[in-house]
Amino acid sequence: MTQNDNHISPETALDKVPRHVAVIMDGNGRWAKGRGEERLFGHRHGVDAVREVVKTAAEAGVGYLTIYAFSTENWGRPTDEVDGIMELIAGAILSELDTLTGAGIRMNFIGDLASLPESLRASIRTAQAVRIPDRQLRMTLNVALNYSARWEITEAMRQIGTLVQQGDLSPDEITPSLISDHLATRGIPDPELLIRTSGEQRLSNFLLWQLSYTELYFTDTLWPEFGRDQMLAALREYGRRERRFGRL
Ligand code: IPE
Ligand code: IPE
Ligand code: MG
Repeated sequence: MTQNDNHISPETALDKVPRHVAVIMDGNGRWAKGRGEERLFGHRHGVDAVREVVKTAAEAGVGYLTIYAFSTENWGRPTDEVDGIMELIAGAILSELDTLTGAGIRMNFIGDLASLPESLRASIRTAQAVRIPDRQLRMTLNVALNYSARWEITEAMRQIGTLVQQGDLSPDEITPSLISDHLATRGIPDPELLIRTSGEQRLSNFLLWQLSYTELYFTDTLWPEFGRDQMLAALREYGRRERRFGRL
């Protein structure tokens, strides 16, 4: 067996695996409250769920997994929750780095990273400095941090506007693919599947451009309880979807 073979057992083998899966990890706070705990307790358990989902996705043969870790709107939460989340993410990046690298999984960060706390930026730099040779690369884990789709599209428009202003681009050269090339996800195929946990059915400013034709999967399961079985159920459901892209 080579590194890229499907490690999922025969009874769970999937016939159609999405190349790119995006996940809105939601419900940590409600899960904690339901147990009489503070919201941060839920976020800590949310990290365990991330570990399991990342492993399952890589084993299933998913090439890109994009997880929504912190939105630009999440700054509106109480300071101790925001600080706790930042610390938790900074710690998790460092503690998971060797295991992920050993499994051929590289981390990539998308969002307005410059305005994150310095300790988190330091963890991001450490993770980004790791190089995995192409033949060992199994999956890219995109972590959306201080991300929102409207921020991302606005940034892309600024870059394109500058190119036009400098005379390096003419307005009729602005195409959907040129716009895609100026997004934070440039070079990454659009997600075939979006998963959102916790029963909410909205996009909350996530990947608005990239999700144009994505299959949406909503589950009532709260994020800390979303693990291997739930991830495989979502992937299996994707296998049953018929995608038409406006055709017949
Ligand atoms: C998702 O869980 C994690 C983040 C947004 C950082 P929530 O914290 O939104 O949990 P609920 O939705 O309040 O239960
Ligand atoms: C979306 O969850 C953002 C992340 C998962 C990081 P939220 O809990 O912030 O979204 P809303 O407020 O329910 O739309
Ligand atoms: Mg939420």
